[in-house]
Amino acid sequence: MEQHLDIHIERREAKKTKPAQDQLGFGIHFTDHMFMMDYTTEIGWHHARIVPYQPLVMDPAAKVFHYGQTVFEGLKAYKTEDRRILLFRPQKNMQRLNRSNERLSIPLINESFALDALKQLISIDQEWIPSGSGTSLYIRPFVIATQPELIASPSSHFQFIIIMSPVGPYYAEGLNPVKIFVESTSVRAVIGGMGEAKTAANYAASLMAQEDAKHNGYAQVLWLDGVHHKYIEEVGSMNVFFKIKGIVYTPALKGSILDGITRDSILQLLQHWNIPVVSGDISIQKVYEASREGTLEEAFGTGTAAVISPIGELHWHGQNLVIQNGQTGELSNKLYQTLTGIQNGSDPDLFHWMTEV
Ligand code: COI
Repeated sequence: MEQHLDIHIERREAKKTKPAQDQLGFGIHFTDHMFMMDYTTEIGWHHARIVPYQPLVMDPAAKVFHYGQTVFEGLKAYKTEDRRILLFRPQKNMQRLNRSNERLSIPLINESFALDALKQLISIDQEWIPSGSGTSLYIRPFVIATQPELIASPSSHFQFIIIMSPVGPYYAEGLNPVKIFVESTSVRAVIGGMGEAKTAANYAASLMAQEDAKHNGYAQVLWLDGVHHKYIEEVGSMNVFFKIKGIVYTPALKGSILDGITRDSILQLLQHWNIPVVSGDISIQKVYEASREGTLEEAFGTGTAAVISPIGELHWHGQNLVIQNGQTGELSNKLYQTLTGIQNGSDPDLFHWMTEV
């Protein structure tokens, strides 16, 4: 985990044109600078630098292209009305980055150094943080294996990079409910696999079913467990919650799903509001029966990019289960307003989640 703590800074001469607030999209525009650091087994992590945003030059034999040795994170920075810059629980992202690193045989990164580097990068590019409602600066730290060699073994060379993108909503629907297809054939991950690591393979595994669902008019896929095809795991690239008869259920963390930071924050908020929560196995059959009985009150996905994404309809085995008449539920709306209020500094930071840059 050794690294030289000073960061070399090379500023861009001519700044790029910034997009209009209503033209942000998600992950399309990138700020003027990026952070980079290299790793070799001989030296450890070294050569930390902030440089103009630029393409990478890499050997085509780099292991990341062939064996997928790579991890990433996603977090957001916000500009408050009084011009402070806030990060939402960034320490959690750095901890999770290292848990993913461990699973992928990637050397660990000093978490507080990575956070300091991120703060410096944000300070340099702070004019890029949008301030419109529902906007933020999305931050994407990632590690790639760069050793040029076709032997399937852990790389001896890596790069840790942070890029940043001013963003609007991840889903075009925003807080409007989406239609979801319950995937009963292909699976995203299994216990013992890499499902809880934030690594490219899990996202690649989801693309085919997601495309099929889109062709059939569904926004996302609801994943079931890889063994029984019975228990609910995630929705799209988000954790998922169901409210049935006043109790909120979410799948337990057993190794096949991501330990979402938004998921954890929602659990804390629900406990704070004395709403009963169960983190455990939830079968799709239970959700189906609740829907038939009229006790399925709400369903929503949660993640950094989308925050809260209400589910208006589930398609399972040829049946359409409509939830809340396809409208955004009261709890989804309250969670979204509370979480985004804390994140953008307009509501009190009750849980000490925010870190000032
Ligand atoms: C996030 O929510 O930050 C993610 O990493 C999901 C990604 C598909 C945008």
